Amino acid sequence: MTTSASSIAAWLRDNADLPRIDREVLLADVLERTRAYVFAHPERLLANDDLRRLDDAASQLRQGTPIAYVRGWREFFGHRFRVSPYVLVPRPETELLVELCVREARTGERVLDLGTGSGAIAISVGIARPDLAVTAIDISAHALDVARDNARTLGASITFAQGCWFEAVTTPHDIVVANPPYIADGDPALATLGAEPRLALTAGADGLDAIRVIVRQAPSFCQRLLMLEHGADQGAAVRELLAAAGMTGIRTETDLAGHDRITWGRLA
Ligand SMILES: C[S@@+](CC[C@H](N)C(=O)[O-])C[C@H]1O[C@@H](n2cnc3c(N)ncnc32)[C@H](O)[C@@H]1O
Repeated sequence: MTTSASSIAAWLRDNADLPRIDREVLLADVLERTRAYVFAHPERLLANDDLRRLDDAASQLRQGTPIAYVRGWREFFGHRFRVSPYVLVPRPETELLVELCVREARTGERVLDLGTGSGAIAISVGIARPDLAVTAIDISAHALDVARDNARTLGASITFAQGCWFEAVTTPHDIVVANPPYIADGDPALATLGAEPRLALTAGADGLDAIRVIVRQAPSFCQRLLMLEHGADQGAAVRELLAAAGMTGIRTETDLAGHDRITWGRLA
């Protein structure tokens, strides 16, 4: 919808078909103010340039573009990550994987993040624990460009490499973390995720193909802990895979919604 709105209140009203929070966030971005400012100044007039940018952003939202792609960034673990349609938008539940890794890592250990996407996990771990040597891998060169850019902007020292899971890894690591694709091909949930790269989302008929490969290869490249994010209904299957690979101390952590989310185990 193209509007003739001239104030914050009028633009909010003219775009009432969009969620209120999205409208406020877009206004805050364009005006380079906070949402509190937007809320407190409904009478503020909008410049034509600002109106054009707002209307363009609103039409992207109506076409189903996630707000993180419209804004170009998403906050994760307290940091602002640039995102593009080449990378998954980092999810809040993945912060649990970062917390676990930061908590369990011993001083100076080598950490490997497989399928780094925007670099959200590797960079957050690297910033929280500068004593660790963090390497991040992705098969997508475009994703790695975004991750490298985020590492530079956020001042994190990360080693990046392109390859299929452990393919580009030449040295053993103490901890391997991954949020691999884990949605089953044909899952109806994919209908709402169409803007994100398919490569980041799906992994075979039961969604476990990527996890199977990582677990099978982990003993050759991982010396201590393997930590995997997975779907809410995949906890038991992932525990079985880790046990079959000879891992011990296997545990599943639940996310804030109480769903199975991270399963981790110890290598001998
Ligand atoms: C679910 S996304 C996770 C992105 C990021 N780690 C996060 O948590 O926001 C999975 C990532 O795995 C990458 N990927 C898919 N297949 C891969 C493979 N065979 N080898 C390496 N990375 C792969 C995708 O490009 C994508 O960036």
